Amino acid sequence: MSPREPIVAGNWKMNMTWASAVRLAQTVSDYCEGSYANMEIVMCPPFTCLKGVQNVLDFDRSDILLGAQNVHEEMPDGTAACTGEISVEMLKDLDCSFTIIGHSERRAANGETDELVNQKAKLLLDRGITPIICVGESAEVNDRGESIKFVTSQVDAALDGLLPEQVASLVIAYEPIWAIGTGNIPSPEGADTVCGAIRNQIMQKFGHQAAQSVRILYGGSVKPENAKYFFSMDNIDGGLIGGASLDAKKFVEIVRICYDLKCR
Ligand code: PGA
Repeated sequence: MSPREPIVAGNWKMNMTWASAVRLAQTVSDYCEGSYANMEIVMCPPFTCLKGVQNVLDFDRSDILLGAQNVHEEMPDGTAACTGEISVEMLKDLDCSFTIIGHSERRAANGETDELVNQKAKLLLDRGITPIICVGESAEVNDRGESIKFVTSQVDAALDGLLPEQVASLVIAYEPIWAIGTGNIPSPEGADTVCGAIRNQIMQKFGHQAAQSVRILYGGSVKPENAKYFFSMDNIDGGLIGGASLDAKKFVEIVRICYDLKCR
């Protein structure tokens, strides 16, 4: 039995129309019904499909939780002059329990900096939504053997100014950029070492309780075929799943593997 509640979260990225999102959510909900106590299953559809997925989960009285893939970094100031943005209040309104922030795709394509990730983390925690903070190094950094240095500095910046109890409640996803969507994966021991270093860093800065409670996921080409290697590692509390989360069978198989290894 894992000391922390495991999580498997699906990051649907920029996939799915309303109809296909509803179908996928319905199938995952049907497959999971009543089977996975003591772990959290999260689906993070694009903004346009949040309501559709929420309807399915509500109707089924499902334990599956809803997550978003991003949020604007500021509380609306009354003018709401942020065309094209989605506020934390809008996500609360749809019962989002989680929000992914700092995904490497957003860092690369949308200039999301460590400071911005920190601002978003604070805002989400203030409003009772759990951030899933993504960190991860490039292939070049990995080749130089500097993954731990790079990733722990991202974690430091993202958590700057938070209280230990806030850190205890959040989720970090370690996603090596070179493993995302490529089929290339680190050795499970290598991923566990980085996740252990993140936990250790949190221990130094925020104390034992925060380090023991914070959940750290691995993400990057997790599939049913390799999930067991990652989920059998002590410092890895579950996974952030991209491509395989778009296939209900594969996603639920990954959930089952996590449950079998961490919840029994
Ligand atoms: P992948 O994506 O599982 O398709 O590699 C993971 C992610 O980007 O969160």
